[in-house]
Amino acid sequence: MRKIIVKLSERSYPVIMGARLENLGAYLKKRFVSKKIFIITNPGIKRLYFGRLSVGLRKAGFDVSIVTIADGERFKTLRSVNNLYKQAIKIKLDRRSIVIALGGGVIGDVAGFFAATYMRGLPLVQVPTTLLAMVDSSVGGKTGVDLPEGKNLVGSFYQPKLVWIDLSTLKTLPTRQIRNGMSEVIKYGIIKDKAFFSFLEKNVGLIKKLDPGIFEKIVFNCCKIKADVVSKDEREEKGLREMLNFGHTFGHAIEVLGGYQKYSHGEAVSIGMNMASELSAKRGLLSAAGMKQIKNLIQKIGLPITSAKEIKFKKILDMMKRDKKVRDGKIRIVLPIKIGKVIVKEMT
Ligand SMILES: NC(=O)c1ccc[n+]([C@@H]2O[C@H](COP(=O)([O-])OP(=O)(O)OC[C@H]3O[C@@H](n4cnc5c(N)ncnc54)[C@H](O)[C@@H]3O)[C@@H](O)[C@H]2O)c1
Ligand SMILES: [Zn+2]
Repeated sequence: MRKIIVKLSERSYPVIMGARLENLGAYLKKRFVSKKIFIITNPGIKRLYFGRLSVGLRKAGFDVSIVTIADGERFKTLRSVNNLYKQAIKIKLDRRSIVIALGGGVIGDVAGFFAATYMRGLPLVQVPTTLLAMVDSSVGGKTGVDLPEGKNLVGSFYQPKLVWIDLSTLKTLPTRQIRNGMSEVIKYGIIKDKAFFSFLEKNVGLIKKLDPGIFEKIVFNCCKIKADVVSKDEREEKGLREMLNFGHTFGHAIEVLGGYQKYSHGEAVSIGMNMASELSAKRGLLSAAGMKQIKNLIQKIGLPITSAKEIKFKKILDMMKRDKKVRDGKIRIVLPIKIGKVIVKEMT
């Protein structure tokens, strides 16, 4: 097992990697007084992993309840959260009861928002089961839901008490979802870690073969970077956490223009990272060689680099102006200046 601490003074918490679902019960028993656990997941993940998780929880003496939300971003809504409140009241959840988010980013965001708001906050444990959730969404405390008007428009910063990562859950994850998470993985290399970027370049073969050893290293390194950024700029106020949005400003626009159907989040971010790199090179901030290296790695992993002709740059810029990250009408965009370093530029 490997451990990283997200340092946030009294709200600090560990991210534990190489853990097993079966052992979470024993770990929690030593650290929490409540005996009540509320697991939030979706039907598919329940079928795959509830057995392994609940066996350990029950053995440790916990009273386990489970509730499911239908699968998909479409259900990342206030309506789903409302159903969770109703279930919670039914089973008499109290302020010390533990909420476990078992799933990908959608479950993590909804369950996190529920935990943040029900009775003004219950202890939350994130158990991510997608690569994206392991390297990104389960760490850092952003929780929330979508509105018809846009993604993640309602939410709260609410840190979990623990992130418990069992890498064996990746075995059942579809290849497209692995690629989806790899987009965020590549992002970490570009924004902050040249050596990690080179490591990814050298290991494309093993990544594609889903080698468990490689994923252990990847998840560890990404969580380390994310934990470091979050501990220095938890609420995205100091310009540091903002760099995690690399590829996302273009990416969000691409997702919206594709009606959230055409491209997955990771695919849209890949296209966005490539567009930002091209823009940076065009402005003379990034070398042509650097830009090419970024493009090559994205492509080798099997992610797209272009949004084809149907999505025009101008249309994307208009869309970007509606993004949350706009300040005083100016678009703030993260641009790489070399591999391992980015800057934020304002564009009007
Ligand atoms: N809070 C944050 O900081 C943050 C960061 C990035 C993304 N997000 C959010 O995360 C969401 C995307 O997360 P995601 O990519 O994990 O998508 P997801 O949660 O929709 O999961 C993708 C698919 O994989 C399935 N799945 C999950 N684990 C599985 C497993 N082990 N085996 C087989 N199938 C499995 C899910 O049921 C789903 O169908 C978006 O809503 C995004 O806004 C949040
Ligand atoms: Zn992302």
